[in-house]
Amino acid sequence: MQRISQTIDGLRQKHGDSLLILAHHYQEDSVVAHADMTGDSLELARQIPLAENVQNIVFCGVHFMAESAAILATPEQRVFLPEASAGCVMSNMAPASLVETMLTRLNSGKRRVIPLAYVNSSAAVKGVCGKFRGSVCTSANSSTMLSWALDRGDAVLFLPDQNLGLNTANILGIPQNERLRLNVRQKGALVDVQAAEQAKLILWPGCCAVHHLFKCAHINQMRKEHPDAQIIVHPECTPDVVEKADAAGSTSAIIKFVEKAPMGSTIIVGTEISLVDRLTERYAPDKKILPLARCQCSNMAKTTEEKLLQTLNALQAGRDISVKDTVRTPARLALQRMLDACN
Ligand code: 13P
Ligand code: SF4
Repeated sequence: MQRISQTIDGLRQKHGDSLLILAHHYQEDSVVAHADMTGDSLELARQIPLAENVQNIVFCGVHFMAESAAILATPEQRVFLPEASAGCVMSNMAPASLVETMLTRLNSGKRRVIPLAYVNSSAAVKGVCGKFRGSVCTSANSSTMLSWALDRGDAVLFLPDQNLGLNTANILGIPQNERLRLNVRQKGALVDVQAAEQAKLILWPGCCAVHHLFKCAHINQMRKEHPDAQIIVHPECTPDVVEKADAAGSTSAIIKFVEKAPMGSTIIVGTEISLVDRLTERYAPDKKILPLARCQCSNMAKTTEEKLLQTLNALQAGRDISVKDTVRTPARLALQRMLDACN
């Protein structure tokens, strides 16, 4: 392992400023150790337009993140994902062709329905959102972007994460009777057209396989065992879990919450386990950081130090992530609308 680490260090030195390694907070420590920058989805996306002199971007994360980087990169830059099969269960729940069919249906009358895609979606879905005058959001800016989208149409289709959509609707005070969970079965033939016409917020029925596992019972148990602890969860958790917690926020917001907590405090964190374990280690013994439950994203865990080394060894001949122009142009528009609205 030490040899792998040293070889990676050597390759990073050899490539110098022409190489940028980005890692999402859910990557394992051995991978994070080699990253030029670690961040949440928004912070990492923001790095791409700033990386003008970089030739090769290695994205340690999952496929949709590397695709977003490829959309925002210049045509000369190449983006690599160390493990090609590192996908996202939530992103797979919204296939682009079905999203397009549903949007065409929802926009067939007089109403204008604006799509807002969580960044955890494919480039093709972002492209569809771009074409339908929509945009993208992350868990760090979902309130700003949902307000942005509501200002531009009669209703918003929020996809694919219904939990993030509902939690954001709660923050913005969108009444229950103005929300509709979209029935996407049978290519939209089962959509309640009348209900869709009344709704302000239409939610795609997708979720994160990891955050969906956190339950109110976990919170009840932890409150019993640690009555003085603060509990923070990710907004991909179900609304009942978010409501029972003391706070909710993106991975970076969770890190800041732990950082600001007073010495001696106990904080219980409901998010992917790699990040929680890192925080536990970083703050021991001054603060006690405990997982709400041990839930791992198997796709995030596919990137290892070995895979990173293989990628760095094959930068010349390796296969990079490419997004065809017909998708890239509208997807870039959707992403750019987000970056402009949240600068
Ligand atoms: P953020 O880091 O943007 O909070 O995203 C969480 C996540 O689930 C990424 O897959
Ligand atoms: Fe997808 Fe959830 Fe894994 Fe993030 S943590 S990559 S949303 S399955």
